[in-house]
Amino acid sequence: MIRGDVVLQGFDEQFGGPPACLVCAPGRVNLIGEHTDYNDGFVLPMAIDRAIWIALRPRDDRRVRVYSLDYGQTLEFSSLGFERGQGWGEYIKGVAYALQAEGYALRGWEGALSGNVPKGAGLSSSAALELAAARAFAAVSGLDWQAARMARICQRAENEWVGVQCGIMDQMACAVSREGHALFLDCRSLEYEHVPLPQDIAVVVLDTSTRRGLVGSAYNERREQCQAAARFFRVKALRDLSMEQFEARGKRLKELEQAAWKRARHIVSENERVLAAAQAMRRGDAARLGALFNQSHASLRDDFEVSSPALDQIVEAAQAQPACYGARMTGAGFGGCAVALVKQEEAGEFGAAVLAAYRRKSGVEARVYVCQASAGAALFPLS
Ligand code: GLA
Repeated sequence: MIRGDVVLQGFDEQFGGPPACLVCAPGRVNLIGEHTDYNDGFVLPMAIDRAIWIALRPRDDRRVRVYSLDYGQTLEFSSLGFERGQGWGEYIKGVAYALQAEGYALRGWEGALSGNVPKGAGLSSSAALELAAARAFAAVSGLDWQAARMARICQRAENEWVGVQCGIMDQMACAVSREGHALFLDCRSLEYEHVPLPQDIAVVVLDTSTRRGLVGSAYNERREQCQAAARFFRVKALRDLSMEQFEARGKRLKELEQAAWKRARHIVSENERVLAAAQAMRRGDAARLGALFNQSHASLRDDFEVSSPALDQIVEAAQAQPACYGARMTGAGFGGCAVALVKQEEAGEFGAAVLAAYRRKSGVEARVYVCQASAGAALFPLS
C-alpha cells in the first residue's frame, strides 16, 4: 500500500468520514555542497522518493489535531496560543508559529500523518514534516502557495521554534524540486535551476545506522567558526571569498586559529566543487561528478571535520566498488548517511557489496536506499 492510502485509511479510523485533501512533502539527499548553505553559498540536493503524507480536512475552529500513525500519538493545540513541548509535533507547531509571525491567519484542521523518511539520518525528515505542515495550513487557510517563500517560513520554524540554526537548503529542496532533476541553488539569492540527472546512473543512499541529532551538536560551532573566518577575511560571507584570495590572505588566520582556517578552506573549495558539479551534470558527465563527490568527502573529513569513523568506512567501501563513480557523506555529518553515484544497471550488486564490506569492518548492519529524484511538496485535493 502506498503512503497516501495508509493515511487515508488512518484518517477514516481516527476521525471518521472523508478527508478534504492529501499533502505530501519529500525528504532530500544532498548530492554536493555541504555546510555551504549558511555561508550564502551553492548546493546541489535532490528531493527523494521518501516522504511525509498527511490526509486532512479543515475544522471550523482554530484547533489542530494530528494523529501520527507512526508514533500512535495525537498532537493537539490551538493556533490561538500554544507552548513548546517535545517530539515530532514541534515541527508542526513551529510552522504554525512562523506562518502567524509572517502575518498569515490560520484555520484549524485534523489530519492523519505517516512517513518513510528515516529520522536523524541526514535525509531531512524534519524539513519534510515542516513543508507537509505548511501545505496543510495553506490548504485549509486558503493561502497562496509560493514554494520558496514557504521554504523560508519553514526554515524560520526550525530556527526559532525548534532551535536548530539550519540553513535554507533542506526546506528549499523539499519545496521546489522537480522529478528527475537535482536542484542547483544559490543560497544567497535563492535563484535555482533544475538540472537533469545524468542518464544511466543511480543515486544510492547508504545509511550507516549511526545517528547524531543536530540540536546541541557541533553544527552551531561550525557556523560560528565560519562567521569568524568571514570576519577575518572582511567578507559578508565565505561565499564571497575566492580560492586565490583565501590562499593569498589566509596565512595569518592559519597561525591564529587553525580550525577556522580549515573550515574556510572547506567552504571555499566546496563552493567551487558545486559549480563544477552542476556543469558536469549539465554535460551528463558522471565520472567528473563522482570525482567531485570523492573530493568533497575528503574535505569534509579533513578540513570541516564533520565525518565519523562509520561514515568514512561506508564511503571507503563504496569508493572501492568498480560500479561507483564517487561517494561522500551527506547532510550535517557525524553519523547518518553517505551518498554514492553508481552505474544504474549495477546498483543492486553495488548495494549488496557495500553492505557486506561495512558489516565486516564495523559489525553493523547498514541500509541501502536507491533513490529517485522526486518533486517538491504537493497538494492533492480529494473533492
Ligand atoms: C543540515 C542543515 C542544512 C545544511 C546541512 C549541511 O542538513 O539543515 O541547512 O547546513 O546540514 O550541509
